[in-house]
Amino acid sequence: MCGIIGICLRDRSQLPLGEALFRGLLRLEYRGYDSAGIAVIDSSRLHIVKGKGRLDELEARLGFTKKYTGETGIAHTRWATHGQPSDINAHPHVDCSGLFAVVHNGIIENYLEVKEKLESRGHVFKSETDTEVFVHLVEELYRELGDVYSAFKSAIKHIRGAYAILLITPIEPNKIFFAKKDSPLVVGIGSSYNLLASDIPALLDHTRRVVVIRDNWVGYITPSSVFVEDLERGFSVDHEQYAMTVLWSLEDASREGYPHFMLKEIYEQPRALVQTLSGLRSDAVLEQVVSLLVDADNIYITGAGTSYHASEYYAYAMSKLAGRLVIPFIASEYELYEETASNKDVLIAVSQSGETIDVLKAVRAFKKQGCRVVAISNVVDSAIPRESDYAIYMRAGPEIGVAATKTFLTQTLVLGFLAIAYAKSSGDLSEAEYRQILLEDIEGSVKVLGKVIEKVDALARRLVERLSGVKSMYYLSRGVGVPIAREGALKIKEIAYVHAEAYPAGESKHGPIALVEPGYPVVFIVPNDPLLERRILGNIMEMKARGAYSIGVLHEESPLVNSVDYSITVPSLHWVTTPITHTPFLQLLAYHLAVKRGLDPDKPRNLAKTVTVE
Ligand code: M6R
Repeated sequence: MCGIIGICLRDRSQLPLGEALFRGLLRLEYRGYDSAGIAVIDSSRLHIVKGKGRLDELEARLGFTKKYTGETGIAHTRWATHGQPSDINAHPHVDCSGLFAVVHNGIIENYLEVKEKLESRGHVFKSETDTEVFVHLVEELYRELGDVYSAFKSAIKHIRGAYAILLITPIEPNKIFFAKKDSPLVVGIGSSYNLLASDIPALLDHTRRVVVIRDNWVGYITPSSVFVEDLERGFSVDHEQYAMTVLWSLEDASREGYPHFMLKEIYEQPRALVQTLSGLRSDAVLEQVVSLLVDADNIYITGAGTSYHASEYYAYAMSKLAGRLVIPFIASEYELYEETASNKDVLIAVSQSGETIDVLKAVRAFKKQGCRVVAISNVVDSAIPRESDYAIYMRAGPEIGVAATKTFLTQTLVLGFLAIAYAKSSGDLSEAEYRQILLEDIEGSVKVLGKVIEKVDALARRLVERLSGVKSMYYLSRGVGVPIAREGALKIKEIAYVHAEAYPAGESKHGPIALVEPGYPVVFIVPNDPLLERRILGNIMEMKARGAYSIGVLHEESPLVNSVDYSITVPSLHWVTTPITHTPFLQLLAYHLAVKRGLDPDKPRNLAKTVTVE
């Protein structure tokens, strides 16, 4: 939630500061987009512009880029947590003296307590945000200590919660002070100036050398130096030791001519899966993880949203391929299993961003019980992999669209791969079966996926003409298709704002079928498994008997092809590949319906890409 950026120039001729901050915010807009603002130091004074609205609206209304120049500046794009989206609640926030400006991503949990104390000392608050207490706290402590950095560090010690914070002041005009805990922050080391941002794409216009800031690190950047210390352990950090070079390009993080990131990311799936596969083949951690799982008493797997659907898929695959029980749970409900987990158990934590707070809390709770944790993530060095014992990366490249698309397919590929590696190691799959699934079916599905996407894209566009006014839908399946059905329903809900429910098809008779009336759309996900197909056929018939409009995503040789009103056929491969072959149509249906309804699929209302608040 929220994106922040700071730029510290040697002199203003290096870059038009307002424009560079604005461009950086555009790359962070996926993190929040209800309001935004910029603060720069120019002629020894703070200049602030901020307001409610999306960046392009604000640029047109307030002109971030032209008017605001200088050497040092910070900026913020917001996703509201405390206080509604409004001009006043937008960041940056300033203190009473107007000497300090701050941007913050996260939540200050004890802000009411701190605010009360500050108010009793005469501080006047303008916004409803938790963030504003921080800047008044710095003002108060600066009066007492007479040094900005000491005041900043002391203020950090007074707050509890999650934060990535940047502060600037004309008292020390060539510095940006920073601190981080539980919210992401990265330093960009340029050749003649330095930067800070919530995420790497915002830095790539300027540099590829980055340092991912760790929890409890504080410090400041100047145009030519970076100073970092570990506040908890009380020593300075040699940041060079943590510097790394980003290998992916800005192009990887831009739209490449597609009208939306979501569409680009759907079409990018074959490429992403090739990267995932090659990464898995050379990943030394994989073998260690498989033997850890084989020896575990209990295996749990958790995630939120799409990552939870991938977790359910893994549980199914492990049961069918290796006869091994895996317990999947939604991350925010971790307390259900927290007490029963022990040091002989393993938790697999699935998170694209690696920052989802619910998953992070589950990881921490299970670790407390002595449980070993394996992270499956897309973002190297993010919080969840860092706090886990092992990390396997999806290697999908940056995903900017709020809807998870390529990261779902790559997650399920990693998890499917793990399940078949487990089954081979436990003797449940022979070498020949293992090679058949891996080399023929999984690799085969990746090879044909480009063509599959083109075909189902056309079918999704056609179907949208019929569904454009739809208010509610069902997504039904059985077995391995259930998590895919859930994923389809989530996509259409979050992107096209259509009410949708997913159920195991057998459940539909126990209530949901009451809503079905003539024309009601029901999407059936039919995996390539004769037993599941036979059972799903019964459910199709029940729905059709009530007048439902049945849509089937089926494999090319399925006997059910003529049993549905609208069929989408995909290659007939092993059921393990169902997420790869069957999901793209569901993603494209949601995408085209959203576009048809005039919605922006990259920025659905009320949602943010990374959910770092409980
Ligand atoms: O980054 P994570 O995988 O931990 O995110 C989990 C969910 O917030 C995420 O999958 C969300 O449901 C997406 N918007 C789904 O498209």
